This record gives sequence, structure tokens and C-alpha cells, in this order.
Amino acid sequence: MSRTIRIAPSLLSVDFGKLAEELAMIEEGGADWLHVDVMDGVFVPNLTFGAKVIETCRKLTNLPLDCHLMVVDPEKYFDAFVKAGAATITIHVETAPHLHRQVMRIKELGAQAGVTLNPSTSLEMVREVASDIDLLLIMSVNPGFGAQKFIPASVQRITRARAILEEARSSAVLEVDGGIARQTIAACWRAGADTFVAGNAVFSAKDPQAEIRALRALCAEQA
Ligand code: DX5
Ligand code: ZN
Repeated sequence: MSRTIRIAPSLLSVDFGKLAEELAMIEEGGADWLHVDVMDGVFVPNLTFGAKVIETCRKLTNLPLDCHLMVVDPEKYFDAFVKAGAATITIHVETAPHLHRQVMRIKELGAQAGVTLNPSTSLEMVREVASDIDLLLIMSVNPGFGAQKFIPASVQRITRARAILEEARSSAVLEVDGGIARQTIAACWRAGADTFVAGNAVFSAKDPQAEIRALRALCAEQA
């Protein structure tokens, strides 16, 4: 099976004083998506941004906006985020008791529907919706902050997530988020991931564009 490699730098690690320049720089440097971490200070112990910032990013870049909602009651934001320009809306199973309905609602609004789960949550939580989703995101850190250490057991979870998608004959994107860097990306690619969020690795690099190329090359070498 041929897989497309996607690198999704995370807005969380951007220098907001230079937002326009940083977004132009990663777009020019070959980023595929912009990952947008929405946190409410309730589901996770940190607070970030909402529709207004998504709208601003929409104006500043052509990259698809990959919105990761770490919030309680995520459905409250679907309409506003899609209107603001979100391409993908990914919700946590821990916040979505009516996961199927919420996935269908995102698709009805015209966005791609993603689901994700914390590192300690059973992957079985996504099996029943595997054929309905456009994206499955494996968290490789506990959500809330950038620049955390990759949890090694995530590689095995990616393998199992890939098997769940294959059993459901789902062509969903399999994304991984947290601690992705030169040391961790190839193992995730080999395990079956195709899309890689990278915050700290890209934005703290001396040359972020070279870092995007290096991360992509590490997967391509294994292909
Ligand atoms: C963590 C966020 C991540 C974060 C990744 O809660 O979901 O998207 O930005 O950052 P790095 O790549 O620095 O681990
Ligand atoms: Zn994220």
C-alpha cells in the first residue's frame, strides 16, 4: 500500500509575534497541513485559541487547517470552526459520548471528521466508527502541552490502529501527535502512520524548512 507522507507543524509552537512570517515560512518549506491545538483549560490543563485565530490563520495560509479539539462539549464549536475555515475537526472520544452523531455532524457541515484518544484510552473506543471517520489521531503524549517526551508504547498503538482501520476498510488518515522528531518519526511511519504533527521539532529548529524536509526524508527512506 502506498502512503502519502504529511507533515503538520503545530501552531502551538509558533512565535505569535511573527505569525504571518512563520506560516508563510512553513508553507514555503513544504508543510502539508497546519495543526491547530484548541484547548479549553478544562479537558486539558492549558488554554489556547478559538475561532478568531482559526479565521486569522485561514487568511494567512493556504495550508489545510487540521483542528484538534481538546475541549469538553466539542460540538459547541463545530459551526464556528467550520465557518472560520477548519478543514478537519478532530474530537477526543473522552469528550464525545455520542461519537457517531458528532462525527456525522462534522461531515454534514462539510469538514473532515477526525477522532482521537488519550494514551491511556482503549483503542476499542474507535472501532465502531472506524468506517465513518476521515482521520484517526493517535496521541503520543498526554495532551495539553508542546515539547513533551514521546511515549514509546505509542508505536504499538499505531500498529493496532492501522489494523482497526484495515479491518473496517477505512481509508482514514492515520495521524500521530506529540514528541515527533527525527528520533521518533521513522518508527511511527513503519508502524503505519502517514501524518505527523510536529511542533517543537520544527519551530525550535535553526532551520524549520530543513527540519520539515528531514522529517519527511526519514519516512521516505523507509517506504
Ligand atoms: C499536545 C498537542 C500537540 C502539540 C505537539 O497537546 O496536541 O499537537 O502541539 O507538540 P510537540 O510536537 O512539540 O510535541
Ligand atoms: Zn494536537
